[in-house]
Parts: sequence; C-alpha cells; structure tokens
Amino acid sequence: MTDTTILVRKPKLDFSQSIDRFYLGDNAVKTHIFNALNLLFPDGERFFVKSVHDHTKQLSDPQLVRDARAFAGQEGQHAHQHERFFENLAQQGYSFERLLDRFQRLARWSKNVPRSIRLAITAGAEHYTATMAAGLLESGILDECHPTMRDLMTWHALEEIEHKHVAYDVLVACYPKTSYPLRMIGFIAASVVIAGFTFAGLRMLLVQDGKRGRLTRAKFEADRKKLNEGRELRFRKKLRVALLKYLMPGFHPSQQDDREVLERFTPQVAQITGL
Ligand SMILES: [Fe+2]
Ligand SMILES: [Fe+2]
Repeated sequence: MTDTTILVRKPKLDFSQSIDRFYLGDNAVKTHIFNALNLLFPDGERFFVKSVHDHTKQLSDPQLVRDARAFAGQEGQHAHQHERFFENLAQQGYSFERLLDRFQRLARWSKNVPRSIRLAITAGAEHYTATMAAGLLESGILDECHPTMRDLMTWHALEEIEHKHVAYDVLVACYPKTSYPLRMIGFIAASVVIAGFTFAGLRMLLVQDGKRGRLTRAKFEADRKKLNEGRELRFRKKLRVALLKYLMPGFHPSQQDDREVLERFTPQVAQITGL
C-alpha cells in the first residue's frame, strides 16, 4: 500500500479543431502511438474498473475499498475524456471503427475468462500505464505537444501514478496464495494485448495518412528515426527496465519512487482541473 491520495478530478479540456494533425512535436509516428493508445483507453479503462469492482466485496481493508472507489472515479473520467477526442480524429479524416470493434469484441469475450485473470490483466496493464506515465512526465516528451493534448496526457499520467497500486493490492488481497503465477499470466496477457493493439492502431493511422497524401515516405522515415535518438531513446530504455521489474517475485508498485514527479506535476494538474 502507498499513502498517495487518489483525487478524482474533472478537467475542462477544449478539444477544438485547432489541434494539429501531428500534435506531438510534428512527429507522425509519436503522435499516432498516442492516438493508438487513446483509442484503447476508453474500453480498456472500463474493463479495468469492472475487474476491480468485481472484487470489492471481498476486501476487508477499508482504505483499499476507498482507493478502489477513487480508482474507478479516475478511470471513468479518463475514459470519458479520451473518448471525447475520438471526434477530432474522425474530423481529421481517420477511420478507426474496425479497430475499436475488434477491441470491444475482445473485451466482451473476456467475460468468459475467470475474474481472477481479468483482475491480473488489469494489475499488469496498470503497471504499463503507471510506468509509461512516469517516464512520459520525467522525459519532457510532452514539452513539444499541443497544449490541450499536453494537459490531457499530463493529468491522465499523474493519476495513473497516484492509483498505480490499487489493482495490484486488490489482486494480492483476493488471491494471496496464487498471486505470483496469476500476476505473471495477467502481465503476459496485458503485454500481448497492449503491444498488439497499439501496433495495429499505429500502423492503421500511418497507412491512412500515406494513402491520403498526408504523410510522405521521407517524413515517415525521418519521424521514425527520431524515436531512436535523444530523450525518446532514453525513455524507451528506462521503460523497458521498469516494466521488467514486474517479473520480480517481491515486486510492489510502490518500489518505484515517483514522489519527485508527483510533486513536480501536481500543481500543473491543479491548474488544469481546479483540484
Ligand atoms: Fe487511466
Ligand atoms: Fe489506471
């Protein structure tokens, strides 16, 4: 357990049409990695909330029950705000219904999977979101982002760090004897789904840009090359190390010390959300 306060904030974000197509440093590849994740967040986060909610009656620790409620509040807001951005993507000429449909079918099918595994997938996926969030805020990658999208991602990232322990602690509280093998099954499944759908979404958006003359081969190559340089490369290297820590038997999300990043970005998020 950690003593981080989990605040449910409601940002006022203006997703007007002034958001550039390649809003992250005019880089098509980086922007579409974010867009691909953005498309997965609403249904993914509803899956997370349901997986944790399915276990709250089993919890005896009142603090963990409160954290689970706050977790649901935060994830519900994330899903809502990311879904609002879908309209911008559609107006920019992207079609993504097939990808969403495939993801939603997988989410519906997952109801056949034991709820213990769904919770383990959530705990694994939450390690991804918290790790990516901390890396994103620390790296400065968002410095060159359109202000609305920077606010969206800064707020979401901070809250992922705040609630990073919740699904994990619910998993360990509900399945203490089998938590390590269960945790590994969940992590592997989460890795396959996140990597598979993010890559599929990235490819889908880049292909659409290429076909409609919005992205030349030369720009694509130049943008892709930038992922292997500077802070992007450092971000990826750190991310890999931090993600693999989940495999350690004694791992707990609180072992990753994010206090500095929380302190640095909480005032910024207070300005975005009023809380
Ligand atoms: Fe979230
Ligand atoms: Fe989360």
